[in-house]
Amino acid sequence: MQYLTIALTKGRLAKDTVSLLEKAGYSCDVLRDKTTRKLIFTDEEQGLRFFLAKGPDVPTYVEYGAADIGVVGSDIIMEENRRAYEVLDLGFGKCRMCVAGPEEARSLLQHHEMIRVASKYPNIARDYFYNRKHQTVDIIKLNGSVELGPIVDLSDVIVDIVETGSTLYQNGLAVLEEVCPISARMIVNQVSMQMKAQKVRELIARLREVRSL
Ligand code: PRP
Repeated sequence: MQYLTIALTKGRLAKDTVSLLEKAGYSCDVLRDKTTRKLIFTDEEQGLRFFLAKGPDVPTYVEYGAADIGVVGSDIIMEENRRAYEVLDLGFGKCRMCVAGPEEARSLLQHHEMIRVASKYPNIARDYFYNRKHQTVDIIKLNGSVELGPIVDLSDVIVDIVETGSTLYQNGLAVLEEVCPISARMIVNQVSMQMKAQKVRELIARLREVRSL
């Protein structure tokens, strides 16, 4: 049996992906058991295997062919820069990659000052400041709660995703510049695209039909 292995991003994106797959007529019943600590789920009838992974690991599994397909945010795809075909915007997981900070930091950005930028996305931050803004900055990698950066004076601004804006608002910060819009994407291993062409193409076509952009 030739399986199609799909890596899902743990959390909200996985839930939204399951809903879309079901709308497209794929059963995801094997993923229903919320109490299990199992990591991989096989559906023999459909020839599908699913596993859940942390977002930044999804493009890694796909590049190496451990997963044929991955569903992951475009923020992670940009940051990780792995080899894979990006085939579909799934239309959920929408948010914005932004430069944010206290209002006072706005002038530091306008005057191209040498500032400190905290981010979970050092590659995206570097690309934005060096290649798009031509501003030399000091980038500090953090692993979460990035909004703390400007509050405790670790950094002047942050580069992070903003969805509702409430984390920024509740911490006295604001969006200062927009880097790019973000949404969930489907990526495909380059070899699987050839070797499992029929199954992969069918999946893409069925999801394209039901996604709402
Ligand atoms: C993300 C992001 C912001 C927040 C934005 O963090 O890094 O902190 O969500 O959402 P909002 O605009 O709706 O408030 P996440 O919850 O993934 O946790 P983290 O800070 O630990 O990365």
